[in-house]
Order: sequence, then C-alpha cells, then structure tokens
Amino acid sequence: MAKIAAPIDVTATPEWKALQDHHDALMAGGISLKDWFAADPERVPKLTFKTPDLHFDLSKNLVTDETVKLLLDLCRAAGVEERRDAMYAGEHINTTEDRAVFHTGLRRPKSDIGTYIVDGSDAVADVHEVLDKMFAFADRVRSGEWKGVTGKAIENVVSIGIGGSDLGPVMIYEALKPFRTGPACRFVSNIDPNDIAEKVKGLDPETTLVIVVSKTFTTLETITNAKMARWWLLRELRASGALDDSAEREAEAIAKHFVAVSTNLDLVADFGIDPENAFGFWSWVGGRYSTDSAVGLALILAYGQERFEELLAGFHDMDLYFQDTPLEQNVVALMAMINVWYNNFFEYETHAVLPYNQYLHRFAAYLQQLTMESNGKSVRWDGSPVTCGTGEIFWGEPGTNGQHAFYQLIHQGTKPVPADFIAFANTANAIEVEGQDVHELFLGNFLAQTKALAFGKTADEVRAEGTPEWIVPARCFEGNRPTTSIFGTELNPHTLGELIALYEHITFVEGVVWGIDSFDQWGVELGKQLAKQITPALHDDEALAAQDASTQALIDFYRRNRT
Ligand code: F6P
Repeated sequence: MAKIAAPIDVTATPEWKALQDHHDALMAGGISLKDWFAADPERVPKLTFKTPDLHFDLSKNLVTDETVKLLLDLCRAAGVEERRDAMYAGEHINTTEDRAVFHTGLRRPKSDIGTYIVDGSDAVADVHEVLDKMFAFADRVRSGEWKGVTGKAIENVVSIGIGGSDLGPVMIYEALKPFRTGPACRFVSNIDPNDIAEKVKGLDPETTLVIVVSKTFTTLETITNAKMARWWLLRELRASGALDDSAEREAEAIAKHFVAVSTNLDLVADFGIDPENAFGFWSWVGGRYSTDSAVGLALILAYGQERFEELLAGFHDMDLYFQDTPLEQNVVALMAMINVWYNNFFEYETHAVLPYNQYLHRFAAYLQQLTMESNGKSVRWDGSPVTCGTGEIFWGEPGTNGQHAFYQLIHQGTKPVPADFIAFANTANAIEVEGQDVHELFLGNFLAQTKALAFGKTADEVRAEGTPEWIVPARCFEGNRPTTSIFGTELNPHTLGELIALYEHITFVEGVVWGIDSFDQWGVELGKQLAKQITPALHDDEALAAQDASTQALIDFYRRNRT
C-alpha cells in the first residue's frame, strides 16, 4: 500500500501568498465585472467549458486571467492531481478510518474488470456482480414475476434509509420522474414516526416491497423504521386475512416483501431478510458517495436497467473528464478552486445552488450532505489543525421559487453569496400558453438573474426611470455578485450522472486544498452517542439527574406536556 503523503499547509505556500496579494490588489483597484467584460472580448470564450453533456459559463465569476493562473498554481501545489490519482487507484486516502476510497469504481465498465485491485479484491468485478444481481432482481419485480406473499405483483416500493442511504436515491428519483416505467417509490428516512406513518398511507401491503438501505445496518433511524415497516406490513396482512399467525407464513411475508442493501450482510440476516435478497457494497464507498451503488436499487426498480446504466455512464464520463483534462481546461478543478477563492480570500461563507428545473428540487438537500459532511472539518487528514476556513455552507431551492424568497439578499444584501445556476435547453413538459412557450419564460428568468447579479443597475439608470431621488439608493444593484451558469441539453440519466460526479469531484478538490479527509464523518458521532444516553431520561428520574440543567429543563417541559 503506497504511503499517503502528509497534507501541506497551503496557507504557508508562496502560491497562497500570491493569491492573497492578488486579492488585495483587486480589492484596492475595485472589482467590476462590467469593466472586465468591456475590456476583454475573449472573456466569455476563455471562461467557457464543456463536458460531454454540459456547458459551463464561468465568466460571471470574480476572476481575471491572473486569478485563474494563481488558483491553478495553488491547486497543483496542494497536490490535487496526485491525490486524485490515488483516489482513482482505490488507495486508502480516507486516513482516519483507514479505508480505501473508490466510488469511481462503481461506474467503471465491465472492460475494466481485472484492472483495479482494491483491498485485495477485483473491485470492478465485484461491482458488476452486484449490478447484474440487481438488474436480474429488478427484471423479476418489474415484469411481475416476483410476487408478494399473496401472489400479487409489486406496485409500490418503500425505500428506508437515511443520509447517504436516502438523499441521493430520493434526489435522483425525483429528478428522473418523467422516465419512470416501474413501481412508484416512496422514501422514509426520519426516525420521527410521522414520516413512515405518512409514507405507508394508502399503500396495499400485498403489492408493496420494502428496501432497507443501510451501509452499516446499525443506524438507529433506519433499523427503527425497518422494524416499524415490518410491524405495519404484518399487521395489515393479518387484518385483511391475507396472513395467519404461523411463523412460516410470517417468514414468507418478510422474504417476499423485504430486501436489503448493506455492507453488513450478517446483520441483514439477523433482521430476518434472506441474504439471497440482499445486495452488497463495500467499505470503500462512503455513504454520501454511494447513490450509484446498490443503494440506488429503488432507482433500478423504477427506471430499469438501461436508464441506470445511462446514469452510471454519465458519472463515468465526468470521472474521465476530471482525470484526463489538463487543469487549465478542467472545469471541475476550476469550479472547486473558485470556491476556495471565495471561501478563503473573500471569506464568503455560503454557496447557493439554484436549479432551474423543478425535478431537481431535492438537489440542494443532496449536495448539503455531499459537501458539508465531506468538508466541514477542523483538522487535517494527519490530525493537525487546519489553518484556514474549510467547508462552504451549501443551500438552495429551485428557481423561480427562490427568486420570490431569498434572492433579495443575494442581489442587495451585505453578505455576497456565490451561486451555481443550473438549467436545461429542453423540458420534459413543453407547454405553450396563449402563444408563449412557458419553458422560454422560465429560461428568461434563469438568464436574467445571473445578468442582474453580475452587472447590477446604477443610480443613473434608476434615475432615468423617473425614480424619486430618495428611493434611488434602495433601487440600485451594485452587481459583481458571482455566479456560474451550468446549461445542459436536457435533464436525463446521463446528464444527471455527470452533474452529480461534477459536485463529488469539486468537493474532493476543495478537501485536498484544505488538507482534510473528505471521506470520514466523525462529527455526526457525538450526537448519536448522547441521544442513546438522553432518551431514557425522558421517562427515568435517575437518568434525568445525570443531565445538564438545560436538558433537564427541556425534559421537564416534555414530561409536563406529553399526554
Ligand atoms: O450519520 C451519518 C451517516 O453515517 C452518513 O454518513 C451515512 O450516509 C448515514 O449516516 C447512514 O448510514 P448507514 O447507511 O450506515 O445507515
């Protein structure tokens, strides 16, 4: 196993210093996108990039030719290329968990079998063995050959998981809805019993398949939800007379209506799920990087093998692009480094992702785990403290809804928010109303917003509209609010795969620059531990006495009000 190099302190490098000086000079001279556009007719072509399905316009970012050069110098100095190659080779770059990182292997074609040995096993062969098993299973369910305990075909799927075992599949399921050809899926994640109670409403247990998705198969939320689903299914089947009380019929019902996705196949069997109906993955896939593994089983059921393979091909194309494109033309590296530019030199803390496509309404939620669980760290991969700000705060909503909610702050607030705008030339629902193509109306908004943010509106322009002088300041837009525009031909499985892999790799590059392990998530552990200790205190006085004063007071409120 190759030794993983210690992270360098990027803030102590001459490349960082050069960027700091450059930033100071830009600030002193004044940043004006309007002037930069006027002075350089080549600005747009120079900052336009293409991947197989996507067109990127980075020209409305606060960067000059010099900025781009210096950012890429820093990218090289931080060792991004070397670490990328280590990740693509499946090395143990998840240092704090001593795990290989090889999610790029999930989408490698069969022709790569035999090439990547990870932890002593032919990883791509393993991937395709599970894919083939999933495709065969999905065929049986989709064709109606797979029957529930009463002999009926499956019409609905309930996928239970949380975090990486939920957010990716939900986001993709929503994004690809126009392509659905199989059972409808519902997703349960929250341990709040209201979640599962609402999700099983109206479902017929005889035609419902439950997928329990958990990498570890120990996650409290998922295992509790799985138990509730089992209780619901058996109760409903008994109530309708479909099931008697015999242990054999109960086991049969579980076997026909429950399948699992996990790396922990022993615990799957303990739960009562037939290991034959379990789909595995590997410790080298982080939860938030697992949506294109067996974790996406619900997607294969809903959309079929061909669509899932298109999704994988989209991921893989972006992987190859990121690997093979020189940094100067590599939009993945550039977007990541521009994020570092804003985060560390402008000290902009948040980053909006604004898809102009309603089907991407869960994209920001998905990205929040990907980016913030990966890069919200204060120590580097060797345990030393970071010396600069890390993880950006990602958030967003689909346009145009966001325009009528928080865009006011983005346009005129005191806290600039760099934003990625995502749109597609074609829509799944081309509708014309009174001679107006509604998609064009929508795209007009996408284009208008980035233009307004970049170029603003001066006091003279406002005055020229006859605005009373005292209102002029309130109606000015200073501009220079940075955006990246990502334009695709249409939202389909391949494009979506590219888009997801784009953000996976952007997250990776930022993590390398900051020297952190983007693949662990120790920050979620303390809350889990404390929840175990505190839950008994809700009803047990001895446990209550061991709590702090604030927790005791909150529990006191609970005890007085729980009916
Ligand atoms: O709590 C965080 C986390 O560990 C995530 O990283 C992971 O995606 C999620 O929980 C679910 O874990 P599992 O798939 O093991 O149930």
